[in-house]
Amino acid sequence: MAVKICVVGLGYLGSTHAVSMANLGHDVIGIDLDSAKVNLLNAGRVSFYEPGLESSLQESLSRGLVRFQTSFKMAETPDVVFVCVGTPESASHKSADTSHVFSAGESLTNVISRDTVVVGKSTVPVGTAALLRERMSAVAGLPVHLAWNPEFLREGTALEDSLNPDRIVIGSWDDYSSQKLKEVYKPILDRGTPLVEVDVPTAELVKVAANAFLATKVSFINAMAEVAEVSGADAVELAKAIGYDDRIGNKFLRNGIGFGGGCLPKDIRGFVARAEELGVGEAVSFLRDVDAINQRRRAWVVTLAEQELGELKDRKILMLGLSFKPETDDMRDSPALDIALRLARAGAKVTVHDPVALHALGDKHPELIGEQDLSAAAMDQELVILGTEWSEYKSIDPASFGDLVANKLIIDGRNVLDVASWQAAGWRLIALGRNVHN
Ligand code: UDX
Repeated sequence: MAVKICVVGLGYLGSTHAVSMANLGHDVIGIDLDSAKVNLLNAGRVSFYEPGLESSLQESLSRGLVRFQTSFKMAETPDVVFVCVGTPESASHKSADTSHVFSAGESLTNVISRDTVVVGKSTVPVGTAALLRERMSAVAGLPVHLAWNPEFLREGTALEDSLNPDRIVIGSWDDYSSQKLKEVYKPILDRGTPLVEVDVPTAELVKVAANAFLATKVSFINAMAEVAEVSGADAVELAKAIGYDDRIGNKFLRNGIGFGGGCLPKDIRGFVARAEELGVGEAVSFLRDVDAINQRRRAWVVTLAEQELGELKDRKILMLGLSFKPETDDMRDSPALDIALRLARAGAKVTVHDPVALHALGDKHPELIGEQDLSAAAMDQELVILGTEWSEYKSIDPASFGDLVANKLIIDGRNVLDVASWQAAGWRLIALGRNVHN
């Protein structure tokens, strides 16, 4: 049965969630204070690159299942409100800024009824939900039903992850709220998707714990890469060997220039800050090392460039890829962008290429030279760095590509290039964590 749903906050998470809810047949209103975003969504367009999302949005709009607005006023009281606003890293570069969650909660107190269930989806420090429930109930003058339902979608496969999740986690204080959420997710649960019902603090923690674990896994293999580089070992083969142990698993063990994006980096920092507030900072202090290992990989690529080219001033370097991973134009905390900027700061003439993210660069970084055409970008370069593993780069022909550059020197920051064929074409290839350079 269709549930009347409201989604507050139409960023990555919110717009994907609104479209997913409509996709399940619910009646959805999306709210965001940014009128440009709202107008775009009502016109069937999404402001970021996410495969499949725009066509699904257009289908939901044409079926009249979703609409977007800037106002919190609704003709009918929603049954369920999902809070999907952002929780960015605060100015102090540590804790998560939850101000948008509380302001959304306050605006909602005017439009919800005793029967509405407010559901937090944003990634928040543990304890936020309890405070939010207390404040909303005080302002609304009635006990607000609040639940927490973390989202695990990955950019690039967001809609698919949202509609076919590994699991659904529901944290609630009362049976009414969890029943309502089970009604919302009925089509997904009926397919046998695991449901984990927990208390609210656990639901809040699940998300940061999952992201902290993933970040740790990536930094673990990058730490092994550091050791491999000085000991003659090969971190790619090592990952393969340990990954066959199904207690370890082979996913998230790709060494390279590390993790970025809008979640992993900020979530581990926010987690450390919250644990310190709670007096258990030591329990997660290892996450500082996880962060430091991740940053070190970026610095290492700059060191490698210096080792290969000497003084970087005026040297011509091409960065292949700008987004923090393929299939997205998101450059938040992107390792590729960060390295490009570090090289530019060191005086290098850095050209950047990306199949989709270049437009998002805008005029934010005039020190970088954007080039949409791959051949033109390669022209006369003295060093090429592969920073994002777009499939387009994996299929580059090293022979003809080599004819364009001034110096056949490449650093594979993601370990995706076929070493033998690049070497056969006369390239000096440096693969992170591997002692393969010729
Ligand atoms: C992540 C979580 O995966 C998702 O569950 C959560 O909801 C949001 O945060 P996302 O930020 O989209 O999703 O990116 P993800 O696919 O997790 O990749 C994160 C970063 O790790 C990327 O920069 C990627 O390049 C890097 N990474 C990933 C590696 O360097 N090596 C790996 O083996 C895997």
